[in-house]
Amino acid sequence: MASRALLLAVAGVVVAGCAVGLSGATDHIVGANRGWNPNINYSSWSANQTFYVGDLISFRYQKGTHNVFAVNETGYDNCTMDGVTGNWTSGKDFIPLPHPGTYFFICGNGFCQAGMKVAITVRIFDLGPEIYPPPAPGADNPPSSSSSSSSFAAGAWPAAAAAATALGAAAIIAL
Ligand SMILES: *[C@@H]1O[C@H](CO)[C@@H](O)[C@H](O)[C@H]1NC(C)=O
Ligand SMILES: *[C@@H]1O[C@H](CO)[C@@H](O)[C@H](O)[C@H]1NC(C)=O
Ligand SMILES: *[C@@H]1O[C@H](CO)[C@@H](O)[C@H](O)[C@H]1NC(C)=O
Ligand SMILES: *[C@@H]1O[C@H](CO)[C@@H](O)[C@H](O)[C@H]1NC(C)=O
Ligand SMILES: *[C@@H]1O[C@H](CO)[C@@H](O)[C@H](O)[C@H]1NC(C)=O
Repeated sequence: MASRALLLAVAGVVVAGCAVGLSGATDHIVGANRGWNPNINYSSWSANQTFYVGDLISFRYQKGTHNVFAVNETGYDNCTMDGVTGNWTSGKDFIPLPHPGTYFFICGNGFCQAGMKVAITVRIFDLGPEIYPPPAPGADNPPSSSSSSSSFAAGAWPAAAAAATALGAAAIIAL
């Protein structure tokens, strides 16, 4: 029940064009209000973000002038198409981040050398001990009950978030 409610909430929020909020999925707009353009230090931008599995990264730029290619680290370092896994050209591209790890994006129109490259590290969502502190073992908190609640927190949420992202991406394509 909880994950169905989450799916509906995320799909609705993504369709509305704003993935930030109650759903927990964040749309990371590359470059913020400066968008995807030459001569911006995207290392500084990405260092200021925390990317979780299930979030989106989005690129805003003038269609036809720039574009987005997902490449591997060789492609990122050298501004080449090495390891290319996808490309986007709409001018307002929402790219899901379904897996933990490092993602590399470059502009494929020759502007990579002018700084249009960004590397991000996506981590598994963690509810964190500050939200649900583990109960101290004792007569009132037998260890068996604390372990069952923490296994739900660790296992169920990332799966639901990944599924919600897939649905959100499908909704965008349907637009
Ligand atoms: C971009 O900013 C980072 C620090 O956030 C710095 O280490 C790096 O040298 C800068 N890159 C360029 C090309 O200025
Ligand atoms: C980093 O985030 C802070 C707070 O949102 C903001 O004030 C600052 O301008 C950001 N820095 C960069 C390089 O985006
Ligand atoms: C970038 O290209 C050079 C050769 O042009 C290569 O030696 C280097 O390994 C490449 N970078 C990475 C990260 O592979
Ligand atoms: C990136 O892809 C190229 C071509 O597929 C490959 O030769 C290279 O080893 C890859 N680099 C990394 C860092 O995986
Ligand atoms: C860009 O992606 C399309 C599919 O979306 C593919 O057909 C095309 O070959 C890709 N272009 C490059 C240069 O990788």
